[in-house]
Amino acid sequence: MAATFPKIAPSILAADFSKLGDEIRAVDAAGADLIHIDVMDGHYVRNITIGPTVIRALRKVTDKDFDVHLMISPVAPFLDEFIEAGADTISIHPETVPNLRKIFTHIKAFNKRVGIVINPETDLSVVDDVWDLLDMLLVMGVKPGFGGQKFIASQLEKIRLLRQKIDTTQRQIDLQVDGGINFTTAPQAIAAGANILVAGTATFKGGPSQYKANIHRLRSG
Ligand code: DX5
Ligand code: ZN
Repeated sequence: MAATFPKIAPSILAADFSKLGDEIRAVDAAGADLIHIDVMDGHYVRNITIGPTVIRALRKVTDKDFDVHLMISPVAPFLDEFIEAGADTISIHPETVPNLRKIFTHIKAFNKRVGIVINPETDLSVVDDVWDLLDMLLVMGVKPGFGGQKFIASQLEKIRLLRQKIDTTQRQIDLQVDGGINFTTAPQAIAAGANILVAGTATFKGGPSQYKANIHRLRSG
């Protein structure tokens, strides 16, 4: 069963980085449920964003959960810094780690939540090995690396299949979609069964005066 009121997680990648604290306060006040933080290393993806130092500084400006999406390789040497910096959920691309169970077990020992990321080319069988540990499934709507890309419609079928799997196994697992979410694709993702929508471009479009309306429109489908 798809959730009726999906949560909205603005991706700060589309915020004005010269005033990141103010941007996060503004989306917090506008009704964001989570703050999605894209960490890119220039190695796993061809883009470089922010790391634990900035996350630690941003932790002071909001009580909303930090949904940290790691697009880095290797992961293990940096994990504790992200945990300590204030991540609440940490999502990992399975192809970036040799042993996903070990990484997830480590994160969960700190009472943090874990997510597995499904790229457009990722086979859904990767979820089976870690199903019992999962708090979230993150289905990419685009190839990881950049905001503002076009949604890849074939990912909707993966969302549908994962929604069925979650519902049959009766586990409380969030189903998040990330990349290419706008006012047209949000309702499609919700109908397919996503209960958390990550939206960068669509949230931050028009500046702070529009954030509330943008979030409301994304949420209501
Ligand atoms: C892409 C990132 C996404 C991205 C979403 O690698 O994981 O979170 O920022 O941006 P939009 O919503 O603009 O597609
Ligand atoms: Zn992301």
